Amino acid sequence: MQILPSSSHQMAQNRLKSHQIRIDYAVYERQLFLKAAVQPSTWQANANVALGVREQTLCRRHIEPDTSPPIGHRMRVREKRHFKTLYGYLRMEKELLGKYTMPGIGFGTLGNTGDAGCALVEAALAEGYRYIDTSRYYGNEEAVGRALARSTVPRGDIWVTTKLLHPRTPPQPDLAFELEKSLRLLQTDYVDLLLIHWPNPEVSLEWALGEFAALREQGKARTIGVSNFPTALLRQALQIVGDLAANQIEYHPYLNQRPLLELMRERDLVLIAHSPLARGAVLNDPVLQEIAQRRQLSVAQVALRWLVQQERVVAIPGAQNVEQLRENLKVLDFTLTNEEMAAISALARGTRIVNPKHGPAWDPA
Ligand SMILES: NC(=O)c1ccc[n+]([C@@H]2O[C@H](COP(=O)([O-])OP(=O)(O)OC[C@H]3O[C@@H](n4cnc5c(N)ncnc54)[C@H](OP(=O)(O)O)[C@@H]3O)[C@@H](O)[C@H]2O)c1
Repeated sequence: MQILPSSSHQMAQNRLKSHQIRIDYAVYERQLFLKAAVQPSTWQANANVALGVREQTLCRRHIEPDTSPPIGHRMRVREKRHFKTLYGYLRMEKELLGKYTMPGIGFGTLGNTGDAGCALVEAALAEGYRYIDTSRYYGNEEAVGRALARSTVPRGDIWVTTKLLHPRTPPQPDLAFELEKSLRLLQTDYVDLLLIHWPNPEVSLEWALGEFAALREQGKARTIGVSNFPTALLRQALQIVGDLAANQIEYHPYLNQRPLLELMRERDLVLIAHSPLARGAVLNDPVLQEIAQRRQLSVAQVALRWLVQQERVVAIPGAQNVEQLRENLKVLDFTLTNEEMAAISALARGTRIVNPKHGPAWDPA
């Protein structure tokens, strides 16, 4: 297998020098390119192991950071037994958060309720999704829980996010009780990520994040974070808990989030792009359509790839059917050129799809 020379490789080397711990990989035209920055002594050997295997062999291997402390310092390549598709094996483990790795594409389940919602989540897992995003306020934790229980994919292989604290609910609930309820509905002992769904001036951020940190301490949430926090609020939150994992915000080609993204990269948070297709608004864009046509991709794939190709960004598109689910997951199969990335970045026009009355003062876009 040929190792592709790329600027990503150089970036990995630079990170190696600064000893920043990070593992990231992607598939470029059916070849695996792995960039890793772990302990220099172990990186080279492990990278060679990973890169040395042929694609056929690779399809039956799973690469993940060793979870033994000190975290992320080693990789192991181990055989996996449960998989259904290529995407299932690779899981697009994109962003390292301490000892955990967040997949680059998740299934956003807003609006997917009841039996139909359950069936779609189950289908998503069968298609290879390993990240499911829900919230207490979507009214579908029970449906997601049923799908998790019915799926043959081991729970440990799935990244599950839920959210609590919404301005439309009482401001100071018993958060331990509420999370326990979510866990019961989701049929799991822990969530991978627990988010404050929306900032709320009536809720003390100090109190909320203190409670979340305690729940993390108890192992009920592996990581904690926020959602819909603009830059100033995120800075405040980080003063309270310095190691927040993520901020889930609206991000798509029509909305520039540069200041927030820079802060999040600086503080090592992951930007989870919600409404990544602007609920369909970007699908008629002529620039995206031209790229899609030229590359024989769908417009949704081009828009999603633009997101997940950015460092420290993952996306959680919603879908109404299995075809959309499948199509959206295929963003692992190709890369956009720098020119294409720049052309899409230039489409930003301040379009904000999710802008409720209770929303905060957003960053200028
Ligand atoms: N934290 C928050 O406050 C917050 C707010 C909003 C959303 N979210 C999260 O973000 C997730 C995604 O947001 P969203 O579902 O509102 O918006 P979205 O992902 O931008 O749009 C999803 C819609 O686009 C269409 N679509 C999806 N894939 C497609 C494809 N391949 N080709 C053509 N059309 C496609 C489908 O609608 P049609 O088929 O009907 O066109 C689908 O329902 C939510 O499910 C939720 O998990 C979080």
